Amino acid sequence: MGIKKLHLVYFSPSGSTERAVRTVASVIEGLSVEVHDLLTSGSRKKKHVFSPDDLVVFGMMTAGKLFTLSDEIFACLEGHDTPFIGIITYGNGYYGIALTEMLGRAEGRGFKVAALGAFISRHSMDTAIAHGRPDAEDMKTMRDFGRKAFMKIQGGDYSLHERPKTNWSSWEMGNKVIAYREEHPEEPYALPTDCKAKEISDDCIRCGVCVQRCPVDAIDIEARTFDLEACIGCWGCINRCPRHAITSTSQDMADIMRKFGARFEARREPEFFL
Ligand SMILES: Cc1cc2nc3c(=O)[nH]c(=O)nc-3n(C[C@H](O)[C@H](O)[C@H](O)COP(=O)(O)O)c2cc1C
Ligand code: SF4
Ligand code: SF4
Repeated sequence: MGIKKLHLVYFSPSGSTERAVRTVASVIEGLSVEVHDLLTSGSRKKKHVFSPDDLVVFGMMTAGKLFTLSDEIFACLEGHDTPFIGIITYGNGYYGIALTEMLGRAEGRGFKVAALGAFISRHSMDTAIAHGRPDAEDMKTMRDFGRKAFMKIQGGDYSLHERPKTNWSSWEMGNKVIAYREEHPEEPYALPTDCKAKEISDDCIRCGVCVQRCPVDAIDIEARTFDLEACIGCWGCINRCPRHAITSTSQDMADIMRKFGARFEARREPEFFL
């Protein structure tokens, strides 16, 4: 059966994953396109149902595994033997179990995973890390990946012949947290509450962007406060504020990122599995 419609589906707090999904899909021509932006809570309350003649290009940000809301995100997707191209973006550190987790979750929701890719983007928590990524070379690789994946699907081959790797950095190997993650992929990623502390400065013009784009409705812009228990620490509000009025105030987080900055320096390259 031929593919009739292309669906771009993504969870992208700071926008890099959305751009990667659009770049990968840009080489797929001649199909009508529907976008499913799963960032807002309202969008995840709907059911997104796909048929065998749809094609889904799906993207999600990572933190060594798929980001916090992956249960909720996959629960609102329903494939019916629908071909699936899955991508993650990460900040030049490591993507851990994110691709294997995506494979399992997508297959569990009725999708035929034909291709998976891991791409590097500037780190949303410290934009000096992987600054300038994706660059022109990365974008070319994304388009090559999209072309190969689509050709494969057009040829009727909907199965994944290469198993995706797990990917931890060498300095993390043997770490108990990682062993635990590998054994319990179903457990959501979570940041400690004090690592999510933020403030809104007087530069705020109450444009409402942060409120509209917060995945868990955790911002009260009138009171200029955050519900830090609800906040998932996605860094979307910090990166999307046009006035740069939101900043992290967590000293612990600043210390962690200082440590990571040095370790995330060596250039990583995109990887894909077909
Ligand atoms: C809480 C949090 C944890 C992250 N953890 C990692 C990580 O473990 N490794 C890594 O390389 N990048 C990590 N990143 C960076 C993001 O994966 C990366 O910047 C991604 O492209 C952001 O996607 P977005 O722009 O679609 O939100 C993390 C970002 C956040 C906000
Ligand atoms: S996005 Fe920035 S300027 Fe707009 S309401 Fe939020 S904090 Fe204020
Ligand atoms: S308040 Fe928390 S969950 Fe909401 S956009 Fe900001 S970092 Fe993300």
